[in-house]
Amino acid sequence: MGDNEVKKISMAVIKRLPRYHRYLAELLRRDITRISSAELSRLMGLTASQIRQDLNNFGGFGQQGYGYNVSDLYYAINRILGLNTSYNMIIVGAGNLGQALANNTDFSKRGFILKGLFDINPKLIGLKIRDVEIMDIDVMEEFIYTEEIDIGVICTGRESAQETADRLVKAGIKGIWNFAPEDIKVPEDVALENVHLSDSLLTLSYIMNEKKLARKFS
Ligand code: NAI
Repeated sequence: MGDNEVKKISMAVIKRLPRYHRYLAELLRRDITRISSAELSRLMGLTASQIRQDLNNFGGFGQQGYGYNVSDLYYAINRILGLNTSYNMIIVGAGNLGQALANNTDFSKRGFILKGLFDINPKLIGLKIRDVEIMDIDVMEEFIYTEEIDIGVICTGRESAQETADRLVKAGIKGIWNFAPEDIKVPEDVALENVHLSDSLLTLSYIMNEKKLARKFS
């Protein structure tokens, strides 16, 4: 599959791909080599037609009467998500959240290698989180260059987020994972993904209210 085909996939489908990836990884782990769209739909709680539509976006993987080849599908999604390579990553802001992310080992298992943490607080500089050192923000640009860092994770307070993003971009970073509650701006050629855990919490609150109303009128 060429890059052009990847670009045509809608963002709505891309957002669902990590979920497929997770389920397929689990099937592979259990040595399951093929699965029907009906079984996959039962497992994932999606309709079979939704699954067919999603997966048809990147090639005719399903075969009538055979279902899906789990390994082919897994590696195709892996490639689309850009997981067939590894990324060097740094975290800027080594407070509560920065340290919690640095303690997570799942990222490195997926090829996101944490190379360094940076902070302005002298009390934190020199400490290590799982063998990764917290360094002075003043040496960040040089580190990005010498260690060939691809991704910068912003875990500073809101007020420092844009300035941090600007520094990361200027130093050549091509992907920013922003946790600060600030709508930061980056140039076109830099990938930006914002994470707001509270959005998910608000969704939970909405669903709870919906269920409460349903109980009231049932
Ligand atoms: P924290 O105060 O524990 O950590 C922030 C760290 O950033 C501090 O160590 C501080 O010294 C450092 N820092 C500040 N300015 C800096 C700069 N210019 N360069 C380098 N380091 C700098 O805060 P916490 O709890 O870790 O939260 C960090 C950020 O993440 C906040 O913006 C918070 O609102 C956000 N947050 C986002 C969540 C989400 O779902 N997206 C969830 C929780 C927190």
